[in-house]
Amino acid sequence: MSVQLAPSVLSADFARLAEEAAAVADVADWIHVDVMDAHFVPNLTIGLPVVQSLLKHASLPLDCHLMIEDPDRWAPGYAEAGARNVTIHAEAAAAPVRTLRAIRAAGARAGLAINPATAVEPYADLLPEIDMLLVMTVEPGFGGQYFLDLVLPKIRRARKLIGGRDAAVWLQVDGGVTEETIGRCAEAGADMFVAGSSVFGATDPAAAVTELRRIAHQAWAARPD
Ligand code: DX5
Ligand code: ZN
Repeated sequence: MSVQLAPSVLSADFARLAEEAAAVADVADWIHVDVMDAHFVPNLTIGLPVVQSLLKHASLPLDCHLMIEDPDRWAPGYAEAGARNVTIHAEAAAAPVRTLRAIRAAGARAGLAINPATAVEPYADLLPEIDMLLVMTVEPGFGGQYFLDLVLPKIRRARKLIGGRDAAVWLQVDGGVTEETIGRCAEAGADMFVAGSSVFGATDPAAAVTELRRIAHQAWAARPD
């Protein structure tokens, strides 16, 4: 598996979600959808009804990132609706193993996200339960924030725990991913990249995705393992 790009529609025009998703449909791998509840993070975005509508119109699979309290209650519903990946936050889940299993049982890939200040090591034993680990590279809640370089050593440690380039678990980064930072993330071991403002804030979102992929691929291919 080489690198994958997941443009985040958090930075898109919410009134034109389907068109915005279509603008990157030929060049991206996923559409990343940020669900925020104004409790787990200080921002409110969209929920299941909008995701259900987007599922009808988007040709790419949806990668739903749930920044919500009580994901144990809500996450399986996103998988049942047809989201192909559903990510819950380790900090928010009361019963992550049960919830990750419920996501998989509903037919989706199961993702586990950790905030910048959350260590990865306590979750090493959960790796068989997940299909993707999301290492946040900003504090979650808003698009357009600056990339936190302090997370790079954790990305390296996460890659070691997960294994080499053919590992079953994907390693995603989200927050501040730009043409300037994506190479550092790939070099550290990330293989799936969320980018919001650097894609939907660009005049040509598709060209932005293509350029991000080129830089990430180059750095990823140069990795020793
Ligand atoms: C932030 C969200 C991100 C956001 C990234 O909490 O999880 O997915 O859209 O936006 P950028 O790429 O602008 O940092
Ligand atoms: Zn996100």
